[in-house]
Amino acid sequence: MRGAHVLNTAAALLPIALGLGCSGGDPTQTNLEFLPEMVDSVPFDAFSQNPNTRDGKTLMAPARGAVARGHTPLHFGPGPEEAARAGRELQSPLPAAPEHLKRGEVLYKRFCGACHGAVGAGDGPVVPPFPVPPNLTLPHAVNMPDGQIFHVISFGQGNMPPHKTQIAQADRWAIVQFVRSLQQPKGAKQ
Ligand code: HEC
Repeated sequence: MRGAHVLNTAAALLPIALGLGCSGGDPTQTNLEFLPEMVDSVPFDAFSQNPNTRDGKTLMAPARGAVARGHTPLHFGPGPEEAARAGRELQSPLPAAPEHLKRGEVLYKRFCGACHGAVGAGDGPVVPPFPVPPNLTLPHAVNMPDGQIFHVISFGQGNMPPHKTQIAQADRWAIVQFVRSLQQPKGAKQ
């Protein structure tokens, strides 16, 4: 313990000793440079030129098709045709489970209820003046495949705005699960 104390004291005094050693000289002259490797970094700087890379830049662009960690690409654009294709091609990655349903309910109330209403009847508190949405429990929405509802949430539809930047993909699927539960005939709801 005593040894450590002496070492700590020495470490604390070292910068002062160095400071004294470096000051007091001619201010127009460069002082003694201590540990110059810390000033002039050995690796290439992010924005410096680099003779070793193909485009001569140190900071390289990601390889074509690279996917950022934790990011699931969504290869769809907006519009009804893409919505129909999403309906054919996309499957929910979430199994039907109470925790997803619960999460979907919270998010539905937060992001959808204002327009679509608490049970999807299209009677949320902001309509009017916002355009009245279709009742989500009518056959048109009931017959939409999960992937299409996911697409509508992501990219919007007609007067409905897109939500893909506000709601994470997994959360959008949780909302789909909750919308499905609203569409169950009364009494069959979990
Ligand atoms: C600003 C109001 C608004 C919000 C918020 C909103 N919607 Fe919509 N939604 C609409 C309107 C209006 C339509 C009808 C769009 C059209 O076809 O012109 C619609 C259409 C839909 C449809 C298609 C129904 C059909 O039968 O064609 C689904 C499904 C849907 N919304 C689900 C959602 C979900 C889930 C959320 C929350 C993530 C949400 N909406 C948020 C206004 C909204």
